[in-house]
Amino acid sequence: MNLRMFVNGRRVKKWQFVQLFATCFILSLMFFWEPIDNHIVSHVKSYSYRYLINNYDFVNDTLSLKPGSDGARYPYLINHEEKCQAQDVLLLLFVKTAPENYNRRSAIRKTWGNERYIQTQLNANIKTLFVLGTPNPLKGEELQRKLIWEDQMYNDIIQQDFVDSFYNLTLKLLLQFSWANIFCPRAKFLMTADDDIFIHMPNLIEYLQSLEQIGVQDFWIGRVHRGAPPIRDKSSKYYVSYEMYQWPAYPDYTAGAAYVISSDVATKVYSASQTLNTSLYIDDVFMGLCANKMGIVPQYHVFFSGEGKTPYHPCIYEKMMTSHGHVQDLQDLWKDATDPKVKTISKGFFGQIYCRLIKIALLCKLSYVDTYPCRAAFV
Ligand SMILES: *[C@@H]1O[C@H](CO)[C@@H](O)[C@H](O)[C@H]1NC(C)=O
Ligand SMILES: *[C@@H]1O[C@H](CO)[C@@H](O)[C@H](O)[C@H]1NC(C)=O
Ligand SMILES: *[C@@H]1O[C@H](CO)[C@@H](O)[C@H](O)[C@H]1NC(C)=O
Repeated sequence: MNLRMFVNGRRVKKWQFVQLFATCFILSLMFFWEPIDNHIVSHVKSYSYRYLINNYDFVNDTLSLKPGSDGARYPYLINHEEKCQAQDVLLLLFVKTAPENYNRRSAIRKTWGNERYIQTQLNANIKTLFVLGTPNPLKGEELQRKLIWEDQMYNDIIQQDFVDSFYNLTLKLLLQFSWANIFCPRAKFLMTADDDIFIHMPNLIEYLQSLEQIGVQDFWIGRVHRGAPPIRDKSSKYYVSYEMYQWPAYPDYTAGAAYVISSDVATKVYSASQTLNTSLYIDDVFMGLCANKMGIVPQYHVFFSGEGKTPYHPCIYEKMMTSHGHVQDLQDLWKDATDPKVKTISKGFFGQIYCRLIKIALLCKLSYVDTYPCRAAFV
């Protein structure tokens, strides 16, 4: 008994020593290496921070708005308040799109965003909405007229009065979370996706239906970025100043290209978004800050892709959820990937071995391709 306590005591001391050492090491990195802030150094710093300290209490302390200061609210130019009034909406699907991307929206309406297909083929109620700001004023009015016409045809656009641009993506995020909370609070799940994404709806819906059965909560899946460092290179599109964010690593977040959350998470993120400074314009990072403040952590789903297109193969389609960078080939991929024959290819003993080998060959390459990770071949 005594001996064991003694050993435990020593263990604790040793562990404390390791922690103290790690903390000093990281602090020294942060202070002395600041001038040579290149790619590798910033990753070493951010991973050390993420894996050794992993404390983001400062989000609440330094990024909270002072009471009374209200974030900007932009009025709706196009809205469909009634869109989500049905009782049993499984998934509210937001597609982030830009005014000029008519062709992309058009392809999405015929494929993974098609509510009617999902209702009749998959027996699930989803609502698809394209979220937009306004066209750049320079080429504005004509395009805005076309948008209004497009919306009269399809009734699936919501637009607020801010300029649609990369640096206003956080405004678009606020638009989605506020719309979901006000007009669609009963949807079981919320997804946000880019307009150059492919979503394998049959697989996703089947998965979400199984989760709905067990009443899942605190649910947030996608392609998780862990310990990502803020980019301090002024020439980068993703440059973030120390003023905006002074810490070496972002909290874990899912790539904005596509992620899914449960409705309780949507509510929590919305209320956090009301209290934080929204100047950080990288929308998925901002969402990560909100979630972190509410104590929600993302789960990595191996079949949510990174920047790259996933390999074209039925054995991949069988489990795929999302793939990135599909514009020209969207309709062909939809046809191939949702073909019922896909499900039969891995049936039986030999089918399983065949698909396992194919997936290893396609996903476990020595040169890094940002699609599904190698371990996706083994699930
Ligand atoms: C966050 O900070 C505010 C003040 O800035 C404080 O009132 C609140 O209690 C804090 N919340 C948490 C969860 O620490
Ligand atoms: C964001 O939208 C606001 C409101 O329309 C506009 O004043 C601002 O210039 C936009 N920002 C960028 C970077 O486009
Ligand atoms: C938000 O942060 C920026 C710095 O990135 C600062 O200039 C601005 O005043 C802050 N806004 C509020 C409302 O606190």
